[in-house]
Amino acid sequence: MLNIAEQHQNQGLSPSLIPEQAVPSIDAVNDLVAPDMNAVNLLIQKRLHSDVALVNQVSSYIINSGGKRLRPVLVLLSARAFGYTGNQHHNLAAIVEFIHTATLLHDDVVDASDRRRGNDTANALWGNEAAVLVGDFLYSRAFQMMVGAGRMRIMEILSDATNTIAEGEVMQLLNCHDPETTEQRYLDVIHCKTAKLFEAAAQLGAVLCDATPEQEQAMAKFGMHLGTAFQLVDDVLDYSASPDEMGKNVGDDLAEGKPTLPLIRAMHQGTSEQSKIIRHAIEEGGRSNIDAVTQIIESTDAITYTANKARQEADLAIQYLKIMPSSVYTDALKTLADFSVSRTY
Ligand code: IPE
Ligand code: IPE
Ligand code: MG
Ligand code: MG
Repeated sequence: MLNIAEQHQNQGLSPSLIPEQAVPSIDAVNDLVAPDMNAVNLLIQKRLHSDVALVNQVSSYIINSGGKRLRPVLVLLSARAFGYTGNQHHNLAAIVEFIHTATLLHDDVVDASDRRRGNDTANALWGNEAAVLVGDFLYSRAFQMMVGAGRMRIMEILSDATNTIAEGEVMQLLNCHDPETTEQRYLDVIHCKTAKLFEAAAQLGAVLCDATPEQEQAMAKFGMHLGTAFQLVDDVLDYSASPDEMGKNVGDDLAEGKPTLPLIRAMHQGTSEQSKIIRHAIEEGGRSNIDAVTQIIESTDAITYTANKARQEADLAIQYLKIMPSSVYTDALKTLADFSVSRTY
């Protein structure tokens, strides 16, 4: 199948949407926060500890299997962009990564996924029970660490985000196998299940620094739009990425009967015959329809349409940075927004 860049070229899209020509340097962003991130990783290792061996085993496995660490990077950059000089941002960054990792453990059970971060998933290795329970351990450890932060506003933002993610995953469950799912219902799901944690991560830096309400709001919006772009691209990659590069399987969304935007768009833009095939594939789930559906997706503008939406969301995110004092950290936040669109993993 064509990769996204080839599809963009075929459809005469702007070069800025073509990953090969415009990959912003995420490495430079990671270098910028490397000393902070080392501290966060040490804290993560320390706070993973449990006296129950299986908890240590499963939680260390998933945490140490990599991951882009984008949400903690967002916390660190946001705090630094407001001139933060303390060390609470390390704690908050670790908390956000614990919450994210807990959602992944649960999500892979719900989605019956067997690859994550280039490895077998925890549920594939230890079973659903252990994966769910260790997910609970990570959620609750995050809440113990939040209490340590000692600020009600921080507790409020993180507990609201965690609650919203759970709602998003349940809303998605209701959309599964439902071909009537609209673009709006899909967007509601991704705002809740994914963008909300990016929103919290970006907002926390502003809260730590007692920024003005306008600045706090701008950072929250920045995170929300960036997170929306991030999930839109995730849903494109599920049809077009290299599984080795992405570290997860492709085709999982269709196998689960998940009506993501590429599918919704292809169903509406395709011929009535194509539309019927997609409806049936959503209702039935499984992997037997993947080739036919992928061909239909390729024959419509579904991938470009979704990628364009992601670009628009990233651009909206970047607009909110105008309120920030300009610095290397604000530039890095912009790079993070661009990366969420151009990423191939
Ligand atoms: C995966 O997030 C879950 C989604 C919201 C799509 P990431 O792609 O950030 O996962 P890791 O942490 O890098 O593995
Ligand atoms: C991830 O959604 C959202 C959360 C983990 C809350 P997906 O199901 O699309 O993520 P991947 O593709 O499994 O990483
Ligand atoms: Mg999943
Ligand atoms: Mg996905």
